[in-house]
Amino acid sequence: MAAFLEVLFAFLCTVGACGVALQHIYRHLCNYTEPIYQRYTVRIILMVPVYSLMSFLALILPKNAIIFNSIIGIYEAWVIYNFLSLCLSWVGGPGEVVTSLTGKVIQPSWHLMTCCFPPIPLDGRFIRRCKQGVLQFVILKPLLVLSAFILYYNNKYEEGSFYIGGGYLYITLIYTMSYSAALWALVLFYVACRDLLTPFKALPKFILVKSVVFLTYWQGLVIFLFSEGGTIESPQEAADYQNVLIGGEMLIAAFAHLYAFPYKDYAEANIGGTETNAWQSLFHVLNLIDVVHDTMHQVHDYTLFFHSFSFKVKSLLLVLSSLV
Ligand SMILES: *[C@@H]1O[C@H](CO)[C@@H](O)[C@H](O)[C@H]1NC(C)=O
Repeated sequence: MAAFLEVLFAFLCTVGACGVALQHIYRHLCNYTEPIYQRYTVRIILMVPVYSLMSFLALILPKNAIIFNSIIGIYEAWVIYNFLSLCLSWVGGPGEVVTSLTGKVIQPSWHLMTCCFPPIPLDGRFIRRCKQGVLQFVILKPLLVLSAFILYYNNKYEEGSFYIGGGYLYITLIYTMSYSAALWALVLFYVACRDLLTPFKALPKFILVKSVVFLTYWQGLVIFLFSEGGTIESPQEAADYQNVLIGGEMLIAAFAHLYAFPYKDYAEANIGGTETNAWQSLFHVLNLIDVVHDTMHQVHDYTLFFHSFSFKVKSLLLVLSSLV
């Protein structure tokens, strides 16, 4: 087990982070005046207790760390999904975006890494591409977590060991590519819809969600590289550092969430009104019917796509066969 001082520090940070975040969530639930936005918001804030509790448990129960890390990994995909849904609901869904963006383009630029493309028209297809760019990560991440889990129990996976015959190296490579693509898609979406997003003060939210999810990842990778280079003695020690650091960062993140996702906006809309029932709001947050609808919608979109695709192929074959 990790050193006593590390555990104590992580414990205090975890208690603090959970206290701040749960209080924050409670305030959202009592003035649940915009269920559509607040549902996603509360799910995102829940990241703080989930991350800090799980990394604390991984610190004190290192033998079961893979389980707690898997929960963090799956919650990460869940946060990104909810953040994407929040952004799309701010701009009023793809249809709304398309009408207000018609005619605009993203010029090729170096810092957006679109320098090799012609100007990209901002239309329904662009928004769909952005959405797909993020969704591939949301789907791939739980699959990677699952493969890590299976490999681990077959002794083919050790967190932080970049051994060619082990699974960690490959899972890390795939993960890095997938999340870089998701990050890029989110940035392009933000740049395209910047004007529509201004009233929602989206920038701090973007920065916060992305830094929590993606910086914790890079930090883990850097720490494990140090342990590979010999600066840190063992992968276990590296994992302990990572867990303690996440504990501390979650305390900071809990306060950053207060600032980035303020409940005041919603409470002020409710002055003189009655508070909402916190349990009912919680039920609305935890109810996954919106995800089911969204998935069915996506599947429907893809079936339409494949129908039109196979129709095109069939017509092409018909034309070809009539030529022969
Ligand atoms: C909900 O909003 C009202 C009106 O602004 C406020 O008085 C009350 O304190 C808020 N409730 C919570 C739990 O923050």
